[in-house]
Amino acid sequence: MARKSVSDFEEDVRSHGGLKRTLGKWHLTALGVGATIGAGIFVTTGTAIVGDPLRPGAGPAIIFSFLLTAIACGFAALCYAEFAAMVPISGSAYTYAYAALGEFVAWIIGWDLIIEYAVGNIGVAIGWSGYFRELIGHFGWSLPSWLATDYRSAHAAFVQVGTAGSVVDVTTQYIASAWASAPHLFGLPLIINLPAVAVVALITVVLVIGIKESADANNAMVLLKVGIILFFIAVGLFLIHPLNWTNPTTGGFAPNGIAGVSAAAAIIFFSYIGFDAVSTAAEETRNPGKDMPFGIIMSLVVTTVLYIAISFVMTGMAPWQQLGTAEPMITALRFAAGPPALLNASRFIVSLGAVIAMGSVLLVFQLGQPRIFFSMSRDGLLPPVLAKVHPRFKTPYVGTILTGIFVAVFAAFANIAEVVDLTNIGTLFAFVLVSAGVIVLRRTDPDRPRPFRVPWVPVTPLISIAACLYLMTQLPAITWIRFIIWLAVGLVLYFTYGYAHSTLRHRRDPVGGNE
Ligand code: ALA
Repeated sequence: MARKSVSDFEEDVRSHGGLKRTLGKWHLTALGVGATIGAGIFVTTGTAIVGDPLRPGAGPAIIFSFLLTAIACGFAALCYAEFAAMVPISGSAYTYAYAALGEFVAWIIGWDLIIEYAVGNIGVAIGWSGYFRELIGHFGWSLPSWLATDYRSAHAAFVQVGTAGSVVDVTTQYIASAWASAPHLFGLPLIINLPAVAVVALITVVLVIGIKESADANNAMVLLKVGIILFFIAVGLFLIHPLNWTNPTTGGFAPNGIAGVSAAAAIIFFSYIGFDAVSTAAEETRNPGKDMPFGIIMSLVVTTVLYIAISFVMTGMAPWQQLGTAEPMITALRFAAGPPALLNASRFIVSLGAVIAMGSVLLVFQLGQPRIFFSMSRDGLLPPVLAKVHPRFKTPYVGTILTGIFVAVFAAFANIAEVVDLTNIGTLFAFVLVSAGVIVLRRTDPDRPRPFRVPWVPVTPLISIAACLYLMTQLPAITWIRFIIWLAVGLVLYFTYGYAHSTLRHRRDPVGGNE
């Protein structure tokens, strides 16, 4: 239960030299929006609207799912804001847990953050691949389908085409064709998602060589993606047929009632992940006390408004049952009735926006994961090799390459829906621990200056905990099993490695550090 005090962290930063404080509140907002808008809105909305064999979909009532999740995230965002303002040191939830709840919980959260960052990126890479395929299609290029999807998606699409025949959309038909056309290896069809692997490999190379994370470059990407989303909303507004929201033959506005809205809320939680990544820039913020809470909360507000507008328009453009694809915004444009040239151009622009949006999310998370490894390794909880800095490029290259390999291998074969569920459960759990940390630190360290205070503690953090736990309960049982196995593996690693090597324990108890 050893805690690394906030003063310990401050001392570490002083002795190692902190990062340069250059970011203001709008930079932080742009960072949050940049890290947030990606596969969640562009891809997972499809399953959230239509549902899958494990749960019902929300239908047009998806806008309530976005609102519900935004409220849950809002309470958690306040808790992140209090910590980020009070402990303006990089490391995010891992650092807060080390300060508030002790090393054991810090380890759990650090291990859990691998799910948020690395596993999350597997989902984003798979999503990226789908839109990339759509984008190159506009130039008349295509990939063999067995090189552009995963085994289980191909099988599911194959079954769907077999039962529904020609009614299924073109993307599903293309994915289904992988099942028949794939070469066989040891009797199994060889189906891999090559673009997903390629984009992760490319980003890994860039990150090893050293990307100068210019806030200006990020601002440009964010402007572009927000611009393209506003374009989609503007075009879509003219293509709405209100009957798509109200049609009684398809179940009306909320075809599956509260059950559908809640299940969808737990899926689209993925689209909000990232506002918390603002807190990783705490050490580079000019005035963290004021700017951190602003950046975190404002990114959440901006994304919520955009998400609700997108889903409102999307479900108005096409019958909701048709939107259950991996590219629902493109599908909506396919079904909408309007001038074909405009619809075709819009599909191109939206694909481009999605590729840029998911590319920037990939970059931020692929950059964040090695930094978390770096902090954990510096604290002795992971092997020192993960804190190794490249002699020439000055980047944590070992952690960056290992992250790249992990993400690329799973992106080649994994199914996006399963990856998204696992990411969501892991991140929700991190939110629970951070919210609990606020309550604990108010008791254990009441006098530390808090430039931003969560109102009504402990009520607000308790609501945050309850809301996140509720969303966790909406995820399938198999996701819980995977998550528990992941945590169990983490526990084994902690007790066989981290516990004995922790630098904090050596610092406090230099003789008996290995007991
Ligand atoms: N929120 C991020 C996305 O949707 C993870 O891609």
